[in-house]
Parts: sequence; C-alpha cells; structure tokens
Amino acid sequence: MSKLSALALVFCQWCSNSFFGHGVRNSVWLFPSIEFIHLLGLGVLGGTILIINLRLLGIRFWNDQVSDLARELQPWMISSLAVMLVSGFFLFSSEAEKLYGNWAFRAKMTSLALAIAFTFTFYRKVTLSEEKQISPVWNKVAALISLALWAGVGLAGRAIGYV
Ligand code: HEM
Repeated sequence: MSKLSALALVFCQWCSNSFFGHGVRNSVWLFPSIEFIHLLGLGVLGGTILIINLRLLGIRFWNDQVSDLARELQPWMISSLAVMLVSGFFLFSSEAEKLYGNWAFRAKMTSLALAIAFTFTFYRKVTLSEEKQISPVWNKVAALISLALWAGVGLAGRAIGYV
C-alpha cells in the first residue's frame, strides 16, 4: 500500500470514528437531511455553472456580457460550492471507511479537484476578462471543459450509492 493510500485510510478511519461520523451514521434523519442540503447546493451550483456556460457557448443570454454575468453569479457559485464541500464532508464522514474503497467516490473526488482547480484558474480568466480580450474559441473550450468536469462530479456522486 502506498504512503498516500495509507494516509487516506487513516484519515477515513479517523472520520468514521469521530463524534460527527458516529452522529450522522447513528441518526435516522441526519444523513437524509444533510443529503437534502447537498442536493439543494447542487441545484444552485449546477444552475450558476449552466447559465455562464450557455452564455460562453453563445446559446443563451446574448444581451449580457460574459464578465457581468460571471461577476453577478460568483457569490452564488462560491457559496453553493462551500455548501457542497461541507455537507459532502459530513455525508462522507458517516461512511468514510466504506467510501475508501469505492471507485465512484475516488472518481468524484478526482473530478472535483480538477473542476475546482480549472474553475479558479483558466475559467476565471476567460469569464472575468472583457469579451474583446478573449477569442470566442477559448470561450467555447472553457465552457465544454467546465461542463465535462462538473458533470463528472455529479455523475460519480450519483454512482456512489450503486457501487
Ligand atoms: C461540488 C461538489 C459536489 C457535487 C456536484 C456533488 C454531487 C453529488 C450527487 C449528485 C450525489 C448523489 C445524491 C443522490 O444520489 O441522492 C452526491 C452524494 C454524495 N456526495 Fe457529493 N457532491 C459534491 C461534493 C462532495 C464532497 C466534497 C464530498 C465528500 C467529501 C461528497 C460526498 C458525497 C457522499 C458521501 C454522497 C452520498 C453517497 C451515497 O451514499 O449515496 N460530495 N453528491
């Protein structure tokens, strides 16, 4: 077992045995309530990402500048992402040792790390720059990569319960 895998296993065992891991696992209503919040956050996050990408692809919202739309939706995107990370952590803690070996969970965390890194680097540059500074081709490339990465997170998240 690699050092990183051993470290990840120790972290999963710590989360599972923590008071909040026990608390969510042993409560009838906590897991479904947190998952409800997880899905609400998913709706807002998915909505903001879809609106900006439909504009980048030139499919909708033509009257709005990309940068105006991105700035207006940024607080919603960042706060809903924070809700996903916190609610996701508590869901994870209730079944961390089980999720350690779950390939769908690993695929989700990998896609999530890539999606967050991409969103706050290249994507941010494309969406917050004045339109004339970015060629329409890069707008479309950024939108397609963003949609693929976030769809990967959502699909892998849905698959967790089936693996
Ligand atoms: C923006 C980021 C995220 C998205 C888009 C996302 C998406 C999803 C989706 C679509 C589901 C399935 C819900 C269902 O089947 O009812 C789900 C469930 C779940 N997510 Fe997330 N999630 C995110 C972040 C996280 C994080 C950061 C973690 C853990 C650290 C996490 C852990 C979980 C767990 C444990 C489940 C429940 C799986 C099950 O037992 O059915 N999620 N997520």
